[in-house]
Amino acid sequence: MNFTVWRDALSKKRFVKELKKKILYSKEVIDRRVEELADAISHDLEGKEVVLIGVLKGAFIFLADLTRRLKIPHTVDFVRLTSYGSGLVSSGNINVTKDIETDIEGKEVVIVEDIIDTGITMAFLRERLQKRSPASIRICALIDKKQRREVSFDVDYEGFDLDEGFVVGYGLDFDEKFRCLPDIYVIEE
Ligand code: PRP
Repeated sequence: MNFTVWRDALSKKRFVKELKKKILYSKEVIDRRVEELADAISHDLEGKEVVLIGVLKGAFIFLADLTRRLKIPHTVDFVRLTSYGSGLVSSGNINVTKDIETDIEGKEVVIVEDIIDTGITMAFLRERLQKRSPASIRICALIDKKQRREVSFDVDYEGFDLDEGFVVGYGLDFDEKFRCLPDIYVIEE
């Protein structure tokens, strides 16, 4: 999404090679926060039929950690969304390139995202899932950039509230790189 601006600003090859970044959230800090989120979800949804829906690709590591810390039975599914348009922010033109395969009717859905920025992606997904008559839809986002929100909604489980900065690591990428880093970094340029 907004990485396009970074990518276009500098030569891709040179930029990635010389990229300066510093740790924003260490893996220890992330671990503790994921545990807290898992405890809150486990508490709220105990005894319910729960489906976690991860938004690919960015959420794959967060969801992998979250699912192993939940203390309640649940199933896991994924959706893959891509947007096209302006580049700087989500355009609102969103393609579903991989849909969920679970029947969510009557179930408690928790959407798992790595980061919410404008909120356009999440608003689109929530509205789409709502049409399948789940018992409820909750939103769990590791990073919430509230200041950039263009569509208003509540985030039920928020890991970190980030004002600004382009972040990579722990599933988050810059031009498909850095997803594998165990810590989350902010790019300094
Ligand atoms: C990121 C993130 C959200 C979306 C949030 O995905 O994972 O899905 O952007 O942006 P928004 O709130 O402005 O709509 P991205 O398109 O970077 O794809 P990725 O998950 O494959 O990295």
